[in-house]
Amino acid sequence: MFRLSGKVLSAMALLSALSISAVYGQQLTVKDGVFTQSQAETGRVVYDTHCGTCHDMKFYADIWEYWQDKPLLDFWFAIVAEMPAENPGSLLDSEYTDIVAYILSERGYPAGESILDRYNGLDNINIVAP
Ligand code: HEC
Repeated sequence: MFRLSGKVLSAMALLSALSISAVYGQQLTVKDGVFTQSQAETGRVVYDTHCGTCHDMKFYADIWEYWQDKPLLDFWFAIVAEMPAENPGSLLDSEYTDIVAYILSERGYPAGESILDRYNGLDNINIVAP
C-alpha cells in the first residue's frame, strides 16, 4: 500500500514535470545564443553610463560562481532591485535587459538570433559556466 502510493506520487511528479516542459519549451542556457549582438552593444552604452563607475567586468568574473545554475531571471531581478546602488530600479526594463546581454557577452557567451526578452523566457534560461 505504502509502496503503491509512492509510485502514484512519483508518476504524478513526472506528469507535472512533463507538462511544465511542454508549456515552457526546452530549457536553455546562456550558451544558446539567447541575446543579440545589437542588444549587447546597446547594453555597453547603458552600462558605461550607469554602472561602469562602480563595476568593471572583473567584478562579474568574481561573482559568477555564485550565479551558476540559477535562472537568468534571478540575475536580471537582482540588478533591477539593487542597482544602480544610488537609485535602484531607475532604468527601463529594456535597459536592464540590454545590460544583462552586455554582461553575458563580456563573460564570453555567444550572441544569437533570439532577442533577450524580460517578459518571455528569462526564467527558462540557466546560467552555466562559459
Ligand atoms: C554607486 C556605485 C554603484 C553603481 C553605480 C552600481 N553598483 Fe552594482 N553594486 C554596488 C555595490 C556597493 C554592490 C554590493 C557590494 C558588492 O557586491 O560588491 C553592488 C552589487 C552589484 C551586484 C551583485 C548583486 C548580487 O545580488 O549579488 C551586481 C550584479 C551589480 N552590482 C551590478 C550593477 C549594474 C548592472 C549596475 C548598473 C545598472 C550597477 N551595479 C551600478 C555599487 C554600484
